[in-house]
Amino acid sequence: MEKQTHNFSNSVVDYYLNASFQLLLEITDINNTVLITDEHVFKAHEQKFKGWNTIVLMPGEQYKVQATVDSIILQLIELGADRKTTLIGVGGGVITDLTGYVASVYMRGVRFGFIPTSILAMVDASIGGKNGIDVGVYKNMVGVIRQPSFLLYDIQFLNTLPQKEWENAFAEIIKHACIKDADMFSELESYSLDDYKNNNEVLSALIKRNVEIKTSVVKNDEFEAGERKLLNFGHTLGHAIENKYHLLHGHAVSIGMVAAATISEEINQFHSTEKERLIKVLMQYGLPVQLNYDKKKAFETLLKDKKKEKGFMNYVLLKKIGEAEVVSIPLVQLQDLFSQTL
Ligand SMILES: NC(=O)c1ccc[n+]([C@@H]2O[C@H](COP(=O)([O-])OP(=O)(O)OC[C@H]3O[C@@H](n4cnc5c(N)ncnc54)[C@H](O)[C@@H]3O)[C@@H](O)[C@H]2O)c1
Repeated sequence: MEKQTHNFSNSVVDYYLNASFQLLLEITDINNTVLITDEHVFKAHEQKFKGWNTIVLMPGEQYKVQATVDSIILQLIELGADRKTTLIGVGGGVITDLTGYVASVYMRGVRFGFIPTSILAMVDASIGGKNGIDVGVYKNMVGVIRQPSFLLYDIQFLNTLPQKEWENAFAEIIKHACIKDADMFSELESYSLDDYKNNNEVLSALIKRNVEIKTSVVKNDEFEAGERKLLNFGHTLGHAIENKYHLLHGHAVSIGMVAAATISEEINQFHSTEKERLIKVLMQYGLPVQLNYDKKKAFETLLKDKKKEKGFMNYVLLKKIGEAEVVSIPLVQLQDLFSQTL
């Protein structure tokens, strides 16, 4: 086990990497802790939850809503949870987002921690303090930024993670490599998903590296004024096509990264051989690199994006593999790129 302590603007978060679920007994008082998980994780790892107060939710994004928050709060009241209670989200990003949000509002805020059980939650969702819920079709529309007290990583959970969730998460891992870590990109080129799945040592090292990338970006810019925006690489077009074409988030991001690479090639001197490397690595991890989508409609959806500012769109582009920047593109130029190049 490796313990790291990270200081954010007004809180300290302990990371227990390469740890085991059992360590929880040392981090929190079992008698005053409530675990929150979903049915998939609970059923696959039931023995781990023995002896712990546990709230088990229905799995899936459609439950990341206010009605679930209300139901959790009623169950907490029933369990006698008070201001000294610790809430721990044990699950994927839906569970960690929900748990962090409930913990921020229940009795005006109680201590909370996360045990991420999907790769995506391990390398992305559980890090950075963004917690929240969806409202109608609007994802993450309501929420708070509040850091957990701790993150505990037990990769044993991953033994039961479905294949499509692995692929989904590798889109974000490849994204991290593109924006921040050329060496990790080379490593990803030389391995396959199965190599990572079958070797706990390389997998743990990969998770640790991604945890550190996301943590360092967030620490430099906790409230998203600058550097944290780089994490949106691939997400601008990704968000515009994800719902309309019923894509997995990772699939939409993968297609979005290829589009961003093409734009980078056109206006940011990103080399075409680097773009080819990106396409190859995405395919190597089972991710789609193209989609026959309605460019005009996608551009219209893009215009509703948060990143639009008076006649310009802030787009995350690559300079080279491992280095990204936010470029303000005039909408007229972006529209041309959409109709002629993408
Ligand atoms: N807060 C943030 O900064 C942030 C960042 C990225 C994503 N997110 C959020 O994260 C969510 C996506 O996360 P996700 O992909 O983990 O989704 P998820 O929580 O829905 O998990 C995906 C699926 O895997 C199952 N699962 C999880 N761990 C498992 C395990 N060990 N064994 C078997 N099944 C398991 C879940 O039950 C679910 O069916 C989205 O809601 C997204 O908005 C948040």
